[in-house]
Amino acid sequence: MAQIQFGDEKENVVTRGEWPLKKAKAALKSETIAILGYGVQGPGQALNLRDNGFKVIVGQRKGTKTWDKAVEDGWVPGKTLFDIEEAAKRGTIIQYLLSDAGQIALWPTIKPHLTKGKCLYFSHGFAITFKEDTGVIPPKDIDVVLVAPKGSGTSLRRLFLQGKGLNSSYAIFQDATGRAKERVISLGIGVGSGYLFETDFRKEVLSDLTGERGVLMGAIAGIFEAQFKCLRKHGHSPSEAFNETVEELTQSLMPLVAENGMDWMYANCSTTAQRGALDWRHKFREAVAPVYEELYKSVESGNEARIVITTCSRPDYRERLEKELAALGNEEIWRAGKAVRALRPVASGKDAPAKKKASKKKASAKRAAPAKRKAAKRAAPRKKRGSRR
Ligand SMILES: NC(=O)c1ccc[n+]([C@@H]2O[C@H](COP(=O)([O-])OP(=O)(O)OC[C@H]3O[C@@H](n4cnc5c(N)ncnc54)[C@H](OP(=O)(O)O)[C@@H]3O)[C@@H](O)[C@H]2O)c1
Repeated sequence: MAQIQFGDEKENVVTRGEWPLKKAKAALKSETIAILGYGVQGPGQALNLRDNGFKVIVGQRKGTKTWDKAVEDGWVPGKTLFDIEEAAKRGTIIQYLLSDAGQIALWPTIKPHLTKGKCLYFSHGFAITFKEDTGVIPPKDIDVVLVAPKGSGTSLRRLFLQGKGLNSSYAIFQDATGRAKERVISLGIGVGSGYLFETDFRKEVLSDLTGERGVLMGAIAGIFEAQFKCLRKHGHSPSEAFNETVEELTQSLMPLVAENGMDWMYANCSTTAQRGALDWRHKFREAVAPVYEELYKSVESGNEARIVITTCSRPDYRERLEKELAALGNEEIWRAGKAVRALRPVASGKDAPAKKKASKKKASAKRAAPAKRKAAKRAAPRKKRGSRR
C-alpha cells in the first residue's frame, strides 16, 4: 500500500500498479459476485466487473423497466440475471446496490442468504452507520466491506470505457474470514477504480451526505440562485445573469480548476477578476461556515438519514420527487440555462444554434467534441502564465 502526502497528512492509497487486475482476478477466482440492484451504480459496477473477466450475476425485481434494461445490457434471465433473492442465494459476494431506502425494505429477504464466509459489499456507509434507523445489522460470520466510487455509476462506466478510472474510497467494517482486505481491494479494482483511498463506514457517509448537501449540489444551487436573483433584481437580463453565474463557471472556469487547481484558474483570469475574487472569498467563506456547522451536525446526529428514510420510503416518493425537480427546472435561472445551452456552438464547429431538438443523452454526446477542443485551446495559456509549474 502506498503512502501519499495529501495536503498536511500522509494517507494509505492502493493503486492499480501495486494491485493489478491480474491479482484482483486471482483473489476472486472462486467467487460469484451478485450485484443486487440495477439503478445507477449497479450497471456501472456490474458491467465493468463483467468486462474485466469476473464471474458476475445481477439481481433485480422482475417486470420492471430496470429488469428490461439489464436484459438489454446482455444479462441473461436464468443464467446471469435473477430476482433479487435468488441472486443473493447464489452469490458469495453480495454487492448491495439497491437505493438506500430499498436496502432497508429488502433486508429481511436478503439476510437469510448471508451465510457464513460470504461477503456483503456496500457503496455507501449509510445502512450500517445508521443501523438503529435502518435495521441493517449483518451476521457476525461474514465480511462487510465498502467501495464507494466518487461519482455517478454512469461516470464510472464511461471512464472505464475510455481506459480511465474514477477514484473510490474503501473500508472494512467486519473481517470474519481474514480475507476482507483482499476481497475489498480486488472488488475496488474490478469495478474500475483508478485508485482507492482508505476510510471507514462512518466517515464515508458523513462526508458524502455533507458534500452532496453542500458544495456538490445543495450549496451550489443556492449560491447560483442568490447571484442570479441579485443580478435580475438590479436590471440585468436573464442571459447576462445566467452567463455570469453558471455558464462561465461550468464551461470555462471549473475545467481549469479540474486541470490544475484554483490558483491556476485565478492566474488565467484578468487581474481585475483575481483582485476581487481574492478579497471576496473570505467574506463568502465566513458567511457559509455557520451553515456548514449546522449541516454537519444534522448529518452527524442522524437527522439527515432519518429524513431520507422517511421520505424515500413513501410509496409515492418518485412522483413527489419528480414534481419538485420539475419546479426547480422551471425556475427562471434554469429556463434561461436551457436557452443558453441551445446556443452553444454545435459539434461541426459552426457558430449556429442546434437545429434539431435532441434528447438530453444525445445532446451531451454531441457536446463532448467541442468540449475537448475547448480544453485543447485552453492548454495554450497554461504554458505562458502557468510556467512556474
Ligand atoms: N448514484 C450514484 O452514482 C452513487 C454513487 C456512489 C454511491 N452510491 C450508492 O450506491 C447504492 C446504489 O445507489 P444507486 O443510486 O445506484 O441507487 P438507485 O439508482 O436509486 O437504485 C435503484 C435500484 O434499487 C432497486 N430498488 C429500490 N427500491 C426497491 C425495493 N423496495 N425493492 C426492490 N428493489 C428496489 C431499483 O429497482 P427498480 O428499478 O425495480 O425500482 C433499482 O434496481 C446506494 O447505496 C448509493 O448511496 C450511488
